[in-house]
Formats: sequence, C-alpha cells, structure tokens
Amino acid sequence: MAYKKIIIGIETSCDDTSIAIIADGKILSNKTFTKFKDHQKFGGIIPELAARNHANHLLNVFNDVLKEAKITSKQIDYIAYTAYPGLIGCLHTGKVFAKTLALVLNKPLIKINHMLAHAFSFSIEKSDSIKYPFLCLDVSGGHTIIYLFKDLNKYRIINQSNDDAVGECLDKIGRILKLPYPGGISLDNQFDPKQTSFPLIKHSLPQKPFSFSGIKTFITNKLHQAEQKNEPINKVLIGSSALKWCFDEIMIKLNYYISRYNVQYLAIGGGVAANSLLRNEIKKIPINVELVDKKYCGDNAAMIAHLTYLTILKKENSI
Ligand code: KG4
Ligand code: ZN
Repeated sequence: MAYKKIIIGIETSCDDTSIAIIADGKILSNKTFTKFKDHQKFGGIIPELAARNHANHLLNVFNDVLKEAKITSKQIDYIAYTAYPGLIGCLHTGKVFAKTLALVLNKPLIKINHMLAHAFSFSIEKSDSIKYPFLCLDVSGGHTIIYLFKDLNKYRIINQSNDDAVGECLDKIGRILKLPYPGGISLDNQFDPKQTSFPLIKHSLPQKPFSFSGIKTFITNKLHQAEQKNEPINKVLIGSSALKWCFDEIMIKLNYYISRYNVQYLAIGGGVAANSLLRNEIKKIPINVELVDKKYCGDNAAMIAHLTYLTILKKENSI
C-alpha cells in the first residue's frame, strides 16, 4: 500500500519506552515497553533507572514496530519525539535516538510537547472529532492543566497546578496509605462511592490555580496522628474520599471555565483520564465531551505521532 505520510513517534518522557508508526493518520503499530516492577519496589519512578531502560530497549521496540507496520525504515517520512516536559535523562535518550534516525534516514526531525500530545489524544485516528474552540482537561502524573484551544497552534493555558499535579497527589496518597504503586490506579481500583464522607479540607475558589499539595499534606498529617494514637485506618474511606475531593476540585473549575468561555466542546487527556469516577463525572457535563480512549490515556507514542500528523496537515493547508 502506498502511503503519503509515514510518521514515527518516539516517547520516552518517563518510564514508558514507546514507539508508534502512523501512516496518513492511521496507526500501523504502537508498542510500549515498561519495566514497571523496577520502579514499583521503590514506590515511585527512579529517573536514572528509567533512562537506562530506554537506552536498553529503544532499538528492540523500534524493530518490533517496523515489523508490525510491515514497512522498512527507509519508508519513514518524518521522525517525531517527545522533547519536553519529562525527566531529563529519559527525554535525552529519546532525543538521541530520534536525532540519529533523522540523520541516518535524512528525514525531518520534529519536537513534540508531551502535554499537547495528551491534549489531542482523544482524536487519534478520528481527526474530524476536533471542533474548535474547545477546552481540554489535561491530567497526568506531572501536570494538571486546563487549555483553551482556538486552533492547533492558537491556545492558552487558563489554569494549571503550580504545586503537585493531581496524578502525583494520588500517587503520594496511595503511598502513605501503603497501597501498591501507582497510587492513582490503586485508589481507582478500591474506590467505593458509598465511602466518601471522610472530612477533608475546603475546596479552592474556581478561578484560583489548581493546588493538590494541601489535600496530600492534610491526609499525611491525619494518618500520622492516627498511627501515633494507634487508631485503625480505613484505607477505603480515606482513599475514596480523597479521590472524590480531587475530582470535585477539578469539576468546580471545569464548570466555571465552561460557562466563562461559553464553549460547546470539552476534551480530556492524560493518565488520570483513565479514572472511572472522573470519566463518569465529565460525561454528566451538558456539552459535547470527547473522552480519550482508555488505551491512549497513559504515555504512548501514538499520541506523539498523531500530533505530528495534525501539525503537518495544518502547515500544508496554510501554505
Ligand atoms: O500521563 P501519564 O501516564 O504520565 C505522565 O505524563 O505523568 O500519567 C500517569 C499518572 C499517574 O499519576 C497515575 O497514577 C495516574 O496517571 N493514573 C490514574 C489512573 N491510571 C493512571 N489515576 C487515577 N485513576 C486511574 N485509573
Ligand atoms: Zn504523560
């Protein structure tokens, strides 16, 4: 089959080594390798270990995606990689791999912003679902952002967390509750909607920046006090209440910005977008909602190649 544009995306911002090949917007292959257990025993990502794993596995993942896509490296037209944000050593391994490939194949090298790739991941293989203007809730382990997109390259951040991101907060609460890493997934798995009444702190005003460090510190202190007094800890009650508190905080701000900017479209992306409670709450918003497919919530290279595809199309159409 003759394709017009074959794009390879390389994602190494954190612990996932991911490479994808997209041809004319269609995914031919998207493979991710994670040595999850290496980090699980430490209760969090060890940056040096993650970077070494990328260096060890990039070539194997590359060969696997070429095989699955049934193409040769010479057929690749564009090479895209996650340039920022992320762990510096991890980003560097991906950059070196991508740059080498671009040099050897003599093809253009394109830098992609990881959070923007998450933001557009709802439209992977369905680019016509993008309707401007739209708000996007981008929730990951390192960032909590609400974007207002007027176009692909015409956007602004209308709210973001300057302290802990929501995913980071959930991971830390999971760790102090001694739940398996990552805490976000464990809290989702044990969530009980009937057990959310643990008294927590007040919510911030809708127009104030996201902040998740207060809730984390509050719960840490409560658990330390309970431990000192030898009181029993109800992990499900505290965890479910904390999860609900975090998502209520997000919904308060989202509803505020939806009416302030009078938008009719809302998208959601990032690892935390896989959460069942958050997805259900978002679905209740009475405007058009584009939920990212669960398989593209966590870090993946398909979103890197996809955003590259959208960027190239935009450039071609504006010439
Ligand atoms: O986007 P992502 O895969 O990596 C970063 O760019 O950070 O997001 C990872 C975050 C972690 O904090 C993880 O706990 C959280 O996403 N996460 C979840 C769920 N699945 C992943 N949080 C809540 N519920 C989930 N089901
Ligand atoms: Zn991410």
